[in-house]
Amino acid sequence: MSACIWAFLIFAGGFFVCKMLYVFATAWALPVTQGALFTSTASVRINSFLDAVSMNEKELLVDLGCGDGRVLRAAQRRYGCKALGFEVNGMAYCQARLLSFGMNGVEIRRTSFWSEDLRDADVVFCYLYPDVMKRLAAKLEAGLRPGTRVVSCNFPVPGWNPLKVIRPDSNCHGDPIYVYRLPDSCPQT
Ligand SMILES: C[S@@+](CC[C@H](N)C(=O)[O-])C[C@H]1O[C@@H](n2cnc3c(N)ncnc32)[C@H](O)[C@@H]1O
Repeated sequence: MSACIWAFLIFAGGFFVCKMLYVFATAWALPVTQGALFTSTASVRINSFLDAVSMNEKELLVDLGCGDGRVLRAAQRRYGCKALGFEVNGMAYCQARLLSFGMNGVEIRRTSFWSEDLRDADVVFCYLYPDVMKRLAAKLEAGLRPGTRVVSCNFPVPGWNPLKVIRPDSNCHGDPIYVYRLPDSCPQT
């Protein structure tokens, strides 16, 4: 067999293995994630979020379901803030750990954010699924300090009033990003 055919087989085999790992890791985590699959936020959207929500070196950004950790790394690089991510999908967690290796200030934990205390967060970022947003609203209202900013990609937090809604200037990635601030954004508390 020629080198080209070998190269193709190795590439196709690797691709297939990665896809299978993705399917198994996603199915395994599904009872916890309730539909929030491991997909990553596009860099144009991350930059729009970071343009709109500034942080300082003492502040903590928490990503609820951090995927491969790209939001954490981008925020840490831009603002020097501390960045903490929770992730239950094994494949996403491994990618996040590998890609963030050696980065001071970035921490990834393999645990569900539902069981975590979020009161140290200054900014909470999430890109989840509509089915969990109502329960998430209750957790955030009960667990965050006044002044904490909450940013939700694509899906609004039910019952909350956004401070602003960002729509990135992009044909493919222009879905809304909702920015909230406690307690003003949640009138029912
Ligand atoms: C749409 S992805 C977003 C990833 C990342 N935040 C980003 O914007 O690039 C949602 C991620 O949340 C994770 N996730 C969902 N529910 C979770 C939970 N209860 N605890 C930890 N991770 C969760 C999923 O495994 C998935 O990787």
